Amino acid sequence: MKKPFGRQAGLLGVGALLVGAVVGASAGAVQPARSVNDGVYTAAQAERGGKIFEKTCTACHDTARFTGAEFTSAWTGLPLKGLFDAVQTMPEDNPGSLPPQDYADVIAFFLQLNEYKPGESELEGTAEAMGAIAMEARKP
Ligand code: HEC
Repeated sequence: MKKPFGRQAGLLGVGALLVGAVVGASAGAVQPARSVNDGVYTAAQAERGGKIFEKTCTACHDTARFTGAEFTSAWTGLPLKGLFDAVQTMPEDNPGSLPPQDYADVIAFFLQLNEYKPGESELEGTAEAMGAIAMEARKP
């Protein structure tokens, strides 16, 4: 017995699966367009961040805790948003007590400590902006 539509329906099914897979893959693989090597903060911002760090963080942390490969490699390959979320859990005795932009300034300070080059525009203290910048090893 002939099934004129059987094969066609099957192919349509496969086609739908493929479209679904491609859409799914591209949605899951959204990579940040920029990285911390692209000059994502300004020198003035890092200076502000250093003052905030001095005032709010040095009671418990030394800058050494946020300097060097041990610190940066923990965040490498991830959007900066991970670090942004982490700093917002600080200071430990008063989490989230700073304005979001102050946390971004502290991250700018961390980037400067790790010798990432500054650029022309400031690092914005929003989840969206932080999600669009990848942490990666410093390029010379
Ligand atoms: C009252 C003490 C205290 C203060 C003040 C404090 N922290 Fe922390 N912080 C801790 C402790 C405890 C940990 C967990 C141990 C560690 O990772 O050093 C921590 C961890 C961290 C981490 C690592 C989180 C992770 O997931 O790796 C970051 C980043 C951080 N602090 C940033 C800051 C910043 C920025 C400030 C100032 C805005 C700050 N901390 C102020 C106590 C403090």
